[in-house]
Amino acid sequence: MSPKSLRATAVDALTLEEAREEHQALQAEIAEHDRRYYQEDAPVISDAQYDALRRRYEALERRFPDLASPESLTRKVGAKASEKFAKVRHRVPMLSLDNAFAPEDVAAFVERIRRFLNLPADAPLVFTAEPKIDGLSLSLRYEKGRLVTAATRGDGTEGEDVTANARTVGDIPPILRGPDVPEVCEVRGEVYLSHQDFAAINERQAAAGKPLFANPRNAAAGSLRQLDASITASRPLRFFAYAWGEMSALPAKTQCGVVECFARWGLRVNPLMQRVSGLDEMLAYHRKLETERATLGYDIDGVVYKVDDLSLQQRLGFVSRFPRWALAHKFPAQKAVTVLEDIEITVGRTGSLNPTAKLKPVTVGGVVVSNATLHNEDYIKGIGGDGLPIRGGVDIRIGDTVVVQRAGDVIPKVLDVVLEKRPPDSKPYQFPTVCPACGSHAVRELNPRTGKEDSVRRCTGGLICPAQARERLKHFVSRNAFDIEGLGAQRIDEFYDAGFVRAPQDIFALERRNGELRLEEREGWAETSVRNLFAAIRARRSIELHRFIYALGIPHVGETTAKLLARHFGTFENLRATALAAADRTSEAYAELTNIAGIGEVVADALVEFFREPHNEEMLDALLAEVTPRAVEQAVSHSPVAGKTVVFTGSLEKMTRDEAKAMAERLGAKVAASVSKKTDLVVAGPGAGSKLDKARELGVKVIDEDAWFALAGQGA
Ligand code: IVH
Repeated sequence: MSPKSLRATAVDALTLEEAREEHQALQAEIAEHDRRYYQEDAPVISDAQYDALRRRYEALERRFPDLASPESLTRKVGAKASEKFAKVRHRVPMLSLDNAFAPEDVAAFVERIRRFLNLPADAPLVFTAEPKIDGLSLSLRYEKGRLVTAATRGDGTEGEDVTANARTVGDIPPILRGPDVPEVCEVRGEVYLSHQDFAAINERQAAAGKPLFANPRNAAAGSLRQLDASITASRPLRFFAYAWGEMSALPAKTQCGVVECFARWGLRVNPLMQRVSGLDEMLAYHRKLETERATLGYDIDGVVYKVDDLSLQQRLGFVSRFPRWALAHKFPAQKAVTVLEDIEITVGRTGSLNPTAKLKPVTVGGVVVSNATLHNEDYIKGIGGDGLPIRGGVDIRIGDTVVVQRAGDVIPKVLDVVLEKRPPDSKPYQFPTVCPACGSHAVRELNPRTGKEDSVRRCTGGLICPAQARERLKHFVSRNAFDIEGLGAQRIDEFYDAGFVRAPQDIFALERRNGELRLEEREGWAETSVRNLFAAIRARRSIELHRFIYALGIPHVGETTAKLLARHFGTFENLRATALAAADRTSEAYAELTNIAGIGEVVADALVEFFREPHNEEMLDALLAEVTPRAVEQAVSHSPVAGKTVVFTGSLEKMTRDEAKAMAERLGAKVAASVSKKTDLVVAGPGAGSKLDKARELGVKVIDEDAWFALAGQGA
């Protein structure tokens, strides 16, 4: 769907009658897009297209102020901001939490911590337990006690500056008071709306004929991310403080202690937080909170456990995006029953044929669901990933009454079939064996490692398949990749259809070719939007290395892996040369890849395959002629081990191997699994064997655990 009402005629050339007509049409259209965006979370046009509609609408009102009735969207709230907030870089990343659903997952979490810290089974281990608030996280930076910035989480590294809006929230004090408020104090917590206030807001929305918010979290997010802070001020947002970022000094030694200080300084903290010790108490807290959930007056979606002792938190550190010392124990997912009206197959970036259930819309836990995943062909047939029957072997058919489940932010899924309601004439679903996009054969490959048939059916069309090419392009411009402002999925479709962009490098040729393409003459475009687009593309000619790697869409290389690779190799040339040399699996290069902590053979093989494919080589050369991935600056660490490649071997006595590894990485060292010419240092404990021999043979420096501590302690 593309914007319908944008006219080519300049606003200045319109009569009042024409303007009124267009204004009305635009109003309906924008309201519809608002509804899709806010209620269904399923926008059908890009941000840029939406912005173009808004701008035209506003231009009409500027020229004919009479059009701006009280019903006008320019007087309404809850619409998507058409301009953008300034960005704020988080000095300490805002991380996410690892999730658990089953008690066993919680047990495994506690066990993992004990093992990591090498705690005896009977040593006490205290956690805090508190509700997981279903809102949006916010980081408040106080300097000398004064609130200076408030930023949303964004991608965890960079958020949006919503300071003016945060100042209107009653629970967020402009000044922290207390003798022990640190000079720099970044308080983190959750912005949310109470059920009562949410209902009142939606009532007001309805009375004004405006779109309703789907749930309190969406309403809180929509209210905080308003360019006009007076709108935020009219919404009774609330805030609970539960964590922190940069702190020039810590006022206590425990999680509980710091949160108590927050309360003393004037912040609001959750009254249900308490200390628990051991698995039984943790699970009891979870059970109790689940029964109280409905009476709290605000949405929560689980319990968060955190190791209380901050020195232990420090030792535990982080794994990729999660702290090792915290866990979100979610409440069970919410379910509903509805009818499966159709099955739609879309083709993914790697050619996977993905089945989506088109459902009769149904409310699941407060959100209207009309699409749900069906995973893959086997899942529809009633076969699980291990080849064994699921749902008692019952298949899923069009026309079936099905159970749908939604858990948190996860895509809803079809869980089960109500067999008694199956229509008598229904037939098993025939999964397509040709690609719906290009007609190529779609096959299930044999996995060479396991000898098993892949559960995913893939289009064999490769680069000739337009669906794959499109998805790759969409991935290329996605938020964690090139993230080009004004070039979202819809624009990619538009440019792809027009034949302007068929491969990533074409994006960077658009401006050069515009003499012939004349984008500004296309529907939905204007001089300014084209100029802005070119500026946004130009700005991305220099890009962070990890974004560049991620954007390539190499199978199995997600954001975290891309970051590991960027950090290890520093430059794209290094990565490419190593991946090419690694085609020989017995080479040093292959060993170097698999030696990177967090990277195994699956990723190494995918890299090898990707880089040696001639089409990809061509694409990379063309792309690198346009774009420069920025070399990674190594984290500033004054430690003598920063930048060194370290191997641990033998048994360590003062800390576990995992902890030693995490510590080395914190200091900027790379930890490898085996010794090679590139190893700078081997830390050998008692019982070290072949790795120690290899180190001696290669003349690599070997030290013992005490010497390692002495070294790691320097400059830290
Ligand atoms: S602690 C480093 N505590 O859950 C740990 N998070 O899934 C920082 N959340 O992004 C988070 N209630 O927005 C923490 N009591 C709580 C929370 C909480 C809600 C949110 C938060 C975070 C998300 C992670």
